[in-house]
Amino acid sequence: MVLQVRQIGKTYRGSGKAVRALERVSLDVAAGELLVVQGPSGSGKSTLLLCCGALLAPDDGEILVEGLSPYTLNRRRRAAFRAQKVGFVFQQFHLIPYLDVLDNVLAAAVERNSASRERAMHLLERFGMGDRLGHVPGELSVGQRQRVALCRALLNDPPLLLADEPTGNLDTDNARVVLRALRDYAESGKAVLLVTHEEKALSLAHRTLQLKQGRLVYP
Ligand SMILES: Nc1ncnc2c1ncn2[C@@H]1O[C@H](COP(=O)(O)OP(=O)(O)O)[C@@H](O)[C@H]1O
Ligand SMILES: [Mg+2]
Repeated sequence: MVLQVRQIGKTYRGSGKAVRALERVSLDVAAGELLVVQGPSGSGKSTLLLCCGALLAPDDGEILVEGLSPYTLNRRRRAAFRAQKVGFVFQQFHLIPYLDVLDNVLAAAVERNSASRERAMHLLERFGMGDRLGHVPGELSVGQRQRVALCRALLNDPPLLLADEPTGNLDTDNARVVLRALRDYAESGKAVLLVTHEEKALSLAHRTLQLKQGRLVYP
């Protein structure tokens, strides 16, 4: 199993009232599987993804990625682990505005060398961005920006790909390209976890779970 989530819980304690964002959430994602977790806004989807992606430690329970708990690692090792094992795609793309397309993708490289450059160009070519390598994100359509973000997420060939509402800002055609790419990546033998409040992703999922107020609900 690539991703194992065991009974995790998470509470945000800011200056205001504490918010229980996740409560006893357990799930697995196998190699070759696209799991969609669907739920309304505020149900804990982004929190779940951050926990799975070694970006936010849960308060309770355990996360294992390829059998290893990233939160037992020190900061430096956890960052290296994340770079190698996890790809992220976000609704807001999070591209670096002053880097061109190729450098945005290469920003994710574990090691920046001719092989990573080759792979970046190959991916960009595949997603129809081969003739835009020198453009900055502000010169691209939103659909093109998300394709660049997708290439960045795939650069290191991570065993786990996490996508947080990746089609939230896209029109139907661009959304289809992104969802198809997530499905294809799963079918190439990787684990893909997609969270969304939209229904249109459900048809591509191998399996779907529902999150409500921080808990998985079963119909
Ligand atoms: N940094 C934070 N501090 C306090 N509360 C937060 C923080 N991030 C998220 N929350 C709260 O946690 C709950 C789950 O949020 P989130 O995981 O972003 O849900 P979703 O992605 O499904 O919209 C919400 O009630 C949200 O307001
Ligand atoms: Mg969210």
